[in-house]
Amino acid sequence: MKIAHRVAEYAAHRSALEGRAPRVAYVATMGALHEGHRSLIRLAKTLGDVVVVSIFVNPLQFGPGEDYARYPRPLEDDLQVCEADGVDIVFVPSVSDLYPAGRQVTVHAGVLGSVLEGHSRPGHFNGVLTVVLKLFNIIQPQVSIFGEKDAQQLACIQRMVIDLNLAVEIVGAPIVREPDGLAMSSRNIFLTASERAVARSLSAALEKAATQGSPPSARAAAYEVLDRAEAEPCFELDYATIVNPSTFAEVPDDHVGLAIFVVAARVGGTRLIDNTTINFAPAPWG
Ligand code: PAJ
Repeated sequence: MKIAHRVAEYAAHRSALEGRAPRVAYVATMGALHEGHRSLIRLAKTLGDVVVVSIFVNPLQFGPGEDYARYPRPLEDDLQVCEADGVDIVFVPSVSDLYPAGRQVTVHAGVLGSVLEGHSRPGHFNGVLTVVLKLFNIIQPQVSIFGEKDAQQLACIQRMVIDLNLAVEIVGAPIVREPDGLAMSSRNIFLTASERAVARSLSAALEKAATQGSPPSARAAAYEVLDRAEAEPCFELDYATIVNPSTFAEVPDDHVGLAIFVVAARVGGTRLIDNTTINFAPAPWG
């Protein structure tokens, strides 16, 4: 496995592959790799003949007062995971290499990037899209895999690829969960035992919602669980809403077809998000 710490180093590894005309499958991460990331790497191996993983905690996507400084950075463990999973090249740039002094140009995520997560974390998706576009330009993948765990991020990236004519195929990968349903996240290590127990409410609410036949009944089923969680002092719901999978606009009560139920909450000092896709059937006649 090759490890590139600088853009020029990666470019040298990449051009050494050119003779083989490889199909490069790419997984972008911020490290602290868990089974969610590993599922993306496994999928990448089936989609390309060279697998590249980047590990970069992107300062541009963290707001003031967010957890940039304390975000976990267990680099040695991460490299071992990559090696064990058969990754070909790991790209681990420094902040100064990726963001040279004097930088000005960024990507603007538009309305899709300003609702829900974008509303709670202003500028977040501009930071995500800016780094992802830079990484695509550096890595030059044919295909890149992103987790459905971050559904709005995936939608923003798919939008960017269309709107900016990027020559990369985006593939979504299903959410990987802990045995009790909690979506895996690098931030879960911040949860205390009691917070961890309450955090389970997010996936439990979605699980209940997913079996309902209409948006109002799905919302009611989810809120039954979320209202109980809100009685706990450590749990603060940010949003729980059913949206169109590509625009992230709220769906009407009589919506039929696919929708995503997205939730976000602060549990103790940790912000958690989760979602599930629901296919609402048409109302029966009569
Ligand atoms: P990070 O949170 O490290 O996630 C990297 C990738 O792993 C993302 O595509 C994310 O959706 C996916 N992922 C995380 N947890 C998952 C889970 N439980 N199941 C399935 N996939 C999961 O997302 C980012 O980093 C950054 O915003 C990044 C795209 C790297 C840009 O900085």
